[in-house]
Amino acid sequence: MSITFSQTVSGELRDGVLIVTIDNPPVNAASADMRAGLAAAIRHAGETETVRAAVVTGAGRNFVGGADIREFGAPMAEPTLPEVVASIEESGKLVVAAINGAALGGGLEIALACHHRIAAADAKLGLPEVKLGIVPGAGGTQRLPRLVGPAASVELIATGRIVSADEALALGFVDRVVARDPVTEALTAARNLAGRKLRRTGALDVSAASAEAVEQAAAKALSRARGQEAPVEAVRLVRSAGQRPLTEGLADERATFLRLRDSEQAKALRHVFFAERAAAKVPGVEGVEPRPVRIVGVVGTGLMGSGITVAALGAGYHVIAVEQTAEAAAKGRERISGLLDRAMQSGRLDAAGRAERLARLSIGADMAALAEADLVIEAVFDDPAVKTELFRQLDGIVRRRAILATNTSYLDPDVIAAATLRPERVLGLHFFSPANIMRLLEVVRCAKTEPDVLATGLAFARRLGKLPVVSAVCEGFIGNRVFSAYRREAEFLVEDGALPHEVDAAMEAYGFAMGPFAVSDLAGLQIAWARRKRQAATRDPGERYVDIADRLCEAGRFGQKSGRGWYVYSGGKRAVDPEVTALIDASRAAKGVVPRAVPAEEIVSRLLAAMAAEGKAILAEHIAERDSDIDLVMINGYGFPAHKGGPMFATGQVA
Ligand code: 3HC
Repeated sequence: MSITFSQTVSGELRDGVLIVTIDNPPVNAASADMRAGLAAAIRHAGETETVRAAVVTGAGRNFVGGADIREFGAPMAEPTLPEVVASIEESGKLVVAAINGAALGGGLEIALACHHRIAAADAKLGLPEVKLGIVPGAGGTQRLPRLVGPAASVELIATGRIVSADEALALGFVDRVVARDPVTEALTAARNLAGRKLRRTGALDVSAASAEAVEQAAAKALSRARGQEAPVEAVRLVRSAGQRPLTEGLADERATFLRLRDSEQAKALRHVFFAERAAAKVPGVEGVEPRPVRIVGVVGTGLMGSGITVAALGAGYHVIAVEQTAEAAAKGRERISGLLDRAMQSGRLDAAGRAERLARLSIGADMAALAEADLVIEAVFDDPAVKTELFRQLDGIVRRRAILATNTSYLDPDVIAAATLRPERVLGLHFFSPANIMRLLEVVRCAKTEPDVLATGLAFARRLGKLPVVSAVCEGFIGNRVFSAYRREAEFLVEDGALPHEVDAAMEAYGFAMGPFAVSDLAGLQIAWARRKRQAATRDPGERYVDIADRLCEAGRFGQKSGRGWYVYSGGKRAVDPEVTALIDASRAAKGVVPRAVPAEEIVSRLLAAMAAEGKAILAEHIAERDSDIDLVMINGYGFPAHKGGPMFATGQVA
């Protein structure tokens, strides 16, 4: 017999156990209707004599994906999630969580309040609230430490890391992991455990942990938090869990959650969350079937090519890598194994995984080997003649339906595509360095790219675990174009009177890991110098142009690698160089500029405005699909702080 508790929650009584199913697509979020239904179901179980126990589960692929983020802007309707969670924990009847899929945020908090937790082997669990600029608001910071101790809780909650069912079992916050249907297992557990003393998470003591372990976990998590409030509050709440009664901890947690939910940081991070979902919706390719890709070809195994190869191997593809000579191929293989070694050292990969990946790689100096590939990505020297010649050649080697991608940063992919007989199968896949690590991938739609070719590029990016953002063709695509505007304005600021370290300090205080001049030094000044020289002949003489970077290059200051650039480096540390200051003074004097002090607020606002203005131009030219795509590119490729939402959001340009 089926019982309806609300539009999204129903129950079915089987052998005295009420199976409560949450069915609230797409992710079973804890909306007002879901909360009311779940509370009613738990009440019904408690009040009905024939019900011995309840099992809570989700319909579809998720258990519960968390609180309903769309409700965050509005006042919260009753019952609140903490009230529902409390009613589960305090229920007189056993409640078992059958975690069939993602149990995140409020979803995990519901599970933590249950008296027993069984998870499917492929379930994902976590409290990712800090990624939304908030802390858990329904007991997560107080109940998780009672199951796994404070050090592990600090690590999980302050970073928002999501774990597998096996790791959750090892840590102690699920009781069993099952390969088959967790509901069947939960029913068995419910029958075995019903009537016994209930294990209420909130009634457990927080196990004593060494202060040092907690300190270390906190320091590590907060070292990446840079100006974000939520991780700091998460650490504070977890720490206090063992030091005061549950009710006090819960009240503090809820008040903190409500305060942070309305903060600017949380609004910005919600924008980023929805921006990522929006970026996946690309006009003209929705519903278009991607072409099958099993074998990926990579031409060039330098820094980019080897990173791309490692990313593709990590996603399960077979990779055929090609170099110009056998020696270069041997070097490429070394570079690729070196990247895999590094992944092992950092614990991201084990020896078996490394061997298995290398078994899927073939590398040599014969272009003809690419005849097997479904998608070929070129990552050779960024020179127009080299790339067009390569594409002409590839066009004659690969199969009719194979796709050709260029990883160019600055060349025009339409020109490269025009060198082939089938430009409709060409697109740009602009990876960011290191390509095996960086999440952003600009997928460049060329003038003739066919929809299913673009769809394949997007599907490939997602399988690599990357965040694809579609860009049309323009110099630098979305990211480098906005970044160039940012750098140009930073140089204007220096000419006006700020010093490079003042500009960097202002942007680092704003939340960037590195300011623009430190980034330039790290990337090297030569490529931009070469580009400026190329552009010199066509530059509008009326346009403001700052020549300080040219003077630096002429003086052999090419950045960190050469030990000198905008700064001077010793032992990896940057320092202000009086020589650079003198060079800046001379450049200003030559133009008759009287330097003035530039306050940090002006530095930040002018740099944001410059990025946003370029972003607006990009939108007007239909290079980017939407303003939020520009934000995603700058956050994931250029270190713009996510908790500020990106340049378009931060300057109020977002619709
Ligand atoms: N609330 C509202 N909508 C949500 C949502 C949520 N918690 N989670 C996902 N959605 C929406 C998405 O916006 C998207 O909508 P769209 O189709 O209109 O674009 C749709 O659901 C599908 O989302 P995905 O594309 O992300 O689906 P996947 O299947 O790839 O992933 C997921 C599913 C792993 C559950 C993923 O959606 C996810 O990570 N969700 C967010 C989880 C989260 O952060 N939860 C914490 C919320 S805060 C909280 O719980 C506070 C509590 O402590 C009180």
